[in-house]
Order: sequence, then C-alpha cells, then structure tokens
Amino acid sequence: MKAKTLGNLLLLGWCVMMLIACSGEKPHYIIGVSQCSEDIWRNWQNAEMKMESNFHDGVELRFATAFDDSERQIQQIDSLVESGIQLLIVAPNQRSSVKSAIDRAYDKGIPVIVFERKTDSQKYTAFVSADNYEMGRLMGEYVVSRLNGKGQVLEVEGLKGSSPAEERHKGFHDALAQHPEVKVVTMLQGDWTEPTAYQVVKDYKGDLNDIDVVFGHNDRSAMGARKVFQERQVKMPLFCGIDGLPGENGGIRQVRDSLLDASYIYPTRGDLLLQLALDILEGKPYPKETLLTSALVTRDNANVLLLESDEVARQAQNLDKLQMQASGYLKQLATQRTITLMALILIALLLLTMVLFYLYHRSKVSAQRERMVNNLWNMEVPEEAKPSESPEQEPSKAEESEQAETPEPLFIVRFKDVVEARLADSDLSVDDLAAAMNLSRVQLYRKVKAISGSSPVELLRTARLNRGYQLLIQTNKTISEIAYEIGFTAPSYFTKCFKNEFGVSPSDIQAK
Ligand code: FRU
Repeated sequence: MKAKTLGNLLLLGWCVMMLIACSGEKPHYIIGVSQCSEDIWRNWQNAEMKMESNFHDGVELRFATAFDDSERQIQQIDSLVESGIQLLIVAPNQRSSVKSAIDRAYDKGIPVIVFERKTDSQKYTAFVSADNYEMGRLMGEYVVSRLNGKGQVLEVEGLKGSSPAEERHKGFHDALAQHPEVKVVTMLQGDWTEPTAYQVVKDYKGDLNDIDVVFGHNDRSAMGARKVFQERQVKMPLFCGIDGLPGENGGIRQVRDSLLDASYIYPTRGDLLLQLALDILEGKPYPKETLLTSALVTRDNANVLLLESDEVARQAQNLDKLQMQASGYLKQLATQRTITLMALILIALLLLTMVLFYLYHRSKVSAQRERMVNNLWNMEVPEEAKPSESPEQEPSKAEESEQAETPEPLFIVRFKDVVEARLADSDLSVDDLAAAMNLSRVQLYRKVKAISGSSPVELLRTARLNRGYQLLIQTNKTISEIAYEIGFTAPSYFTKCFKNEFGVSPSDIQAK
C-alpha cells in the first residue's frame, strides 16, 4: 500500500475516533432521595429538586417515599444504595429508627445529606434544616400575644420520635412557660397527617368549647383538627400550624382565607439541596450545616406572600416550559450529531473497502502480468516475430510509434530476442536495447516497466542469469568463463547476482 494512501486512511480513522470520543457523555451523577412521607410539602420539595436538576447536565434523581414508615424507609435506603446512587439525600422518618440504614450508606462511601429531620447517626456529610425549636418558640409567643396572655391551648403533635415534633413542642412550651395563664390543656399524638389529627381530636374527651387555640405541629394537623370543630359546630378557636406552603392547598392561602390564623414557613428548598449535593459530588467546598431562614405567616402578610409565591410559581412554570423547549432542541441536535457520525463512519468504511478492493485488484493484475511475462520470457521465439538486425540505425518516427503500439506479448517476445542476442556484450546499454527496438530510451523504459513491472536493465540481468544457469548445467565451462560469456565483467559479481536470484551459488549447481 502506498504511504500516502495509508496516511490518508489513518487520518480518516483518527477523525472517526475523535468524533466518537467527542460524542461521549459528560459525568453522570445518580442522586438518591429518600423521603419519609408523601404529601404536599414533600411534593413541592421534590419538584424543586427536579427543576434544579434540569439546569445541570447528567444528573439523575431517584426518589423513594416511605409513607411515614421507618421500616420501609430503611429498606428503601438500602435498595437505593444497591442501585448505585452516588449520593443520598434523606429526611429520616424518626430520629433513631432509620439510623442503621444511614450508617450503612455512609460506610459504603456514599455522601449523605440529612435534611429537615435529624438522625441519631453521626454518619452524614451535611445537614440542612430550618430551626424547628425557634419556630415552635416564636409560634408560642405569637399565641400568647393573640390570647393577650390568657387562654387554653390544644396541641396536635407531629410523629413521635421525629425531631421536628420534639423541637417544635419544646420551643412552644418554653415560650409559654413564662406565661402561666396560657395553658396547654391537652397534647394529642398526631403523625403529621391530616386524617390522624382529625381522628385524635375527634377522640378527645375534653370539652372543645374550652379551647382558644389549636396548635398543630404542621398545617395539615391544624386543618385536621379544624374539621372536628366544624363538624361539632362548637366555638371556633384560632388554628395555628407550621409549613406555610405556597400554592392551592398551602398554608399561606389558608391563612389568607382565615382557615388558619397563622402558619410558619418551613422552607422546602429542593434547589439548595440539589446544588449542595452537586458541590459535594464535584469536590467543591460546602457547609456542613445549613440553617434555612423562615418567617411567620399571619393575616397581615399572607396576601403579599401569596402574591409573591404565585409569581414565583408562574416564573417557575415559564422556566419549566423553556427548559422543555431547550431539551427538545438538544435532543434534536444529538440526533443530528448521531446521524452525521454514522454517515462519517459509513463513508470511512466505504473508502476503506474501495482502497482494499483497489489493492487486491492491483496485486491480481500485476501477478497476471508477471505470469504472462514469465511465460513469454521462457517461450521459444518464432522466426517471423524476431526483429531485423539493424540496431545501429536510428529508429524513424513512424517506426518508433509502431513499436510503441506493438501488442504486449509480441513486444516482450521481441525484446527478449534482442536481449538474448546481445547479452554476451558486457558494454550493452539500455540505449543500445532501445535502438534495437526502434524506441527511444524513455519509451523503452516505460513500455517494459508497464508490461513487466521490471526495468529493461533488470530484465537484461534476469536473462543473463537464466542463460548462466543453463550453461552451468549443460556445459563443463568454469564459473569465470560462463560469467564473461553472459556479459558479466567480474565473476564474483556474477556469483553474487546468481545467489540473489536463485538462492544458491553457481558452484552448488555445478557440484550437482
Ligand atoms: C412533611 C412534613 C411537614 C412537616 C415536616 C416535619 O412531610 O410532615 O408537614 O413540617 O414534615 O418534618
């Protein structure tokens, strides 16, 4: 194969490899999210995480929800880890019960972000939450002020063993401790869900008419309790909760619509969680603890907050639409790139096939040609085909072109005859051979080369050696005599060329 052809092929191959390499994916991060519950707050947060992930290439989120069941959450964390997640975001259902699974994930080298609910495990990478104690305390102060320092409170607690329930309770009671005339007459055990709050309040044996304020550890608990008061058609107390979500069924709207008296924004911040996760995965600096700010929602600010949150939601929707459009374009681009790549590979394969076919064909043709020349070279020349003996004469133009156009087999036969007739002449030159063939030196060279693949000088040498071989086996002449007879000027050179041609030395032939 010619060096240039090989070079071109290599270049083409390199381009294809580069294209394939460039089309490779960016780093792919798989993040597992283990939610303890399934509710409006969690949904909001998951949506924020998904939305944020759209802004980063190659992020895959795997969500699992335990529906307030710690055993279930343990299994889900284990299987998330087994599925190959590179980072775990977890809201532990309860402080202690989910600890073992968190430990296992962390011990396997998976970074763990604990958010919003605390764990007894020390094995986590970062913690993100608002201050639940402070929220409870400020809600306590708010209640005191709403009651003007005197009244009765019914408390619906969050799930037993979950850290926000413990902290909100403590903060609330610490605030009330300085106001002895504000009394918590009962603490009912809820589990963060509306139906349970409804049920525990319904089962309450005390007189609901005595209640001035219901403090639900979250808005859903407060709303569950409210239903019972409504159903019983008793005096409606003030209902206070925590979460203050935006949106259709969120706490902000419930405050604005006077279903709740107050709420406290418990920030979801899924965007921040995802950003933190990526910082950890990418080895960037990150805070071990992040405290989220929150705010009280009352009738005074509910309207403004609602307007703001609706606006944010609208912008988010627009962004979502844009995002979808952009990802549509990106998909199109990717498809086009794949098509181009495939076309390039096809072209490369086609070129390769063509080159290989060409090379194969060429080698076949030259083998045929060689066979033909060999046959002719060894053939007896018919008398009528032999050229006339006038090598000294200059060939006429007409003769030259006639010779140049002579059919290949006949030409070779003639050339062979000329060579053989004069090979004893050690001074025989290509010019002499050309003159004998009625051709110019250049014409002879081109024609002989084209037909046989060898130059006239090479053919002359081959003819001399063939004759030498014959003389060695047919006569008793010495090697020197033979060498001179076939036009070699030095016997040693004859021996060397003979060995090259036949692989044995003349003396080996003679010895046989
Ligand atoms: C959501 C939720 C919120 C509450 C928080 C406590 O699942 O129940 O309503 O504020 O969890 O962890």
